[in-house]
Amino acid sequence: MRVCAAALFAGIVAPCAAETTPAPCIVRSPDLTLPGQAGAGDAATLGGMRPDRSALGVSVASCGTVSCHGGPKAGNHDVQSFAFTIWMNDDPHARAYEVLHEPRSRRMARSLGLGEAHRAQQCLACHSMQSESREPLPPEVLADGVGCGSCHGDSSRWQHIHYFPEWKQLSTPQRESLGYRDLSNASTRVQNCIPCHVGDASREVNHDLIAAGHPRLSFEFAAYQRLWPRHWTPAGKAESQADFAQRSWAVGQAATLEAVASLLAVRAERASEAIAAERPHRWPELSEFDCYACHQTLGPRSSAAGHAARFQNPFPGQPSWQPWYVSAGRLLEAAASPSGQDRPGVGTAAVDIRKVFEPEWSVADQERLDRVLLEARGLARAAGASARELATRERIVLDASHHRLDALLADAPPEWRFWDAAVQTLLVIEAAGGGRAAGSRQAAAPGQTRQAIEELRESLRFAPGVDSPRHFDPVRFNLDRAAVPLPAHVQP
Ligand code: HEC
Ligand code: HEC
Ligand code: HEC
Ligand code: HEC
Repeated sequence: MRVCAAALFAGIVAPCAAETTPAPCIVRSPDLTLPGQAGAGDAATLGGMRPDRSALGVSVASCGTVSCHGGPKAGNHDVQSFAFTIWMNDDPHARAYEVLHEPRSRRMARSLGLGEAHRAQQCLACHSMQSESREPLPPEVLADGVGCGSCHGDSSRWQHIHYFPEWKQLSTPQRESLGYRDLSNASTRVQNCIPCHVGDASREVNHDLIAAGHPRLSFEFAAYQRLWPRHWTPAGKAESQADFAQRSWAVGQAATLEAVASLLAVRAERASEAIAAERPHRWPELSEFDCYACHQTLGPRSSAAGHAARFQNPFPGQPSWQPWYVSAGRLLEAAASPSGQDRPGVGTAAVDIRKVFEPEWSVADQERLDRVLLEARGLARAAGASARELATRERIVLDASHHRLDALLADAPPEWRFWDAAVQTLLVIEAAGGGRAAGSRQAAAPGQTRQAIEELRESLRFAPGVDSPRHFDPVRFNLDRAAVPLPAHVQP
């Protein structure tokens, strides 16, 4: 696939799927019938053309021809004509399958007893487009990694029509009925990232994978969107909304929390069924707990009294449930609720789950599992409702002013001792407008603020050669955070 893609880029026809089917973009049919119009069959029939069901609608080759989305970047102003080129050259998703061939992936798969990583369904579920297809995908399509189809959906029923002017007149449900995935707003976009970046009932990065060498997944939609090279023109898209960064953060955090709670519910249900059937069960899932409650670097420095005093686990012997996502829930409650109507929300519901795990966090009896299940479903419902409510707001203004954050801190001091919570705090300050402009790496805020935020970010980096935040000092972080000069619009 790589060779083929490179050839396409250079305008050379290489022997790959793309050329066995005529390049669809240059076909213009005279008489169109669109779905829902008189004459339309159940399958979209356009000008007598029927979707080619044998074509692999998810393959990148079918989108990336030079005349479609694989045009050259240089001297070209029409981003969508080189979406493929951007994906291919700059997008981490294009390498998602390739990494399965790397020694670390091979080691990982070997220690998990999965055979070869690039053939293991467990890896392909997130590192390729396999989840988009019920049939096993051929190797050349798997090699595309996380390609166009992973986000835009299987294109076998819309590819041949989506470049007609009439396509633009189709409603979202009409397009979706053809398998096209709407990604036009924060809600639909984040829902698309979640299965791979958080996990769901069919795919997960659990502690087994992490212990075997997989990076821990800590997702924050707004930040990931910022990091991700954009392959479309922002004009007229979600990016052109004034509150894009705030909206992405708020809707993203609520939807993510919903997914995290749903995953806990799935795990509780599975454990419960296994116990009832007297099968071996897995409970609790360690990756949901504070990593650093259990993982302490051994060695002279970590045992130094100074460090022990600074980064003390607030619940000794008892790892906290999801410090990354629970702090996000709390920040959401604090920053996104219109001032004056601070009511208990998703952050509080998330903290309630922790209470079920206390004091014996690892006990797996039926009664405990039932309670976890109940709480987890409750949180999922609350977070889902919050995501929907936020999405309908005309404008989202985040209040990440120091006085809001201070109030939060006073209310929940143990939470803010976690490095995870500190990173989330940095991210909300950025999303609220204290940091970089949405969709770019350019600075938005005045230089002074930007510099202070950069310093804050630096202070959160792990020290060289150390893969834990054992040098993190929550008291110091908070002083530094409170010293960031925020621009007027994020002050109360
Ligand atoms: C639930 C989805 C999911 C599953 C299952 C999964 N991964 Fe990943 N993997 C990801 C995501 C998402 C990232 C990127 C993490 C990040 O940077 O936030 C990633 C990153 C990686 C990386 C690091 C890539 C880099 O560029 O640094 C490797 C290596 C990897 N995965 C290998 C594997 C292997 C091998 C398997 C199967 C044993 C596997 N993954 C299963 C989602 C998944
Ligand atoms: C990780 C998810 C992801 C992947 C992979 C991906 N896209 Fe996109 N793409 C998006 C999102 C999100 C948008 C913005 C959609 C919007 O706002 O309507 C977008 C927008 C586009 C647009 C602009 C659409 C328009 O209405 O103007 C084109 C064209 C496009 N993508 C083509 C591709 C092609 C070709 C590939 C594969 C080479 C690809 N995309 C891979 C997520 C993805
Ligand atoms: C089909 C699964 C899948 C989907 C859907 C998906 N991703 Fe990814 N994403 C991955 C994998 C796997 C990686 C790791 C790739 C690698 O490094 O090899 C990754 C990596 C990334 C990275 C780079 C992370 C890093 O550490 O540098 C960003 C940013 C990212 N994804 C953003 C998004 C966003 C935003 C969405 C939703 C619009 C999305 N992804 C949808 C699987 C997916
Ligand atoms: C309740 C305690 C506990 C929690 C919480 C926990 N782990 Fe572990 N972890 C262990 C134990 C015990 C082992 C060794 C046995 C094993 O491999 O499962 C281990 C092994 C590992 C290993 C492989 C051995 C090594 O040190 O290189 C890694 C990596 C790891 N954990 C990372 C994490 C990360 C990241 C998190 C948080 C997302 C986490 N763990 C949460 C107890 C925990």
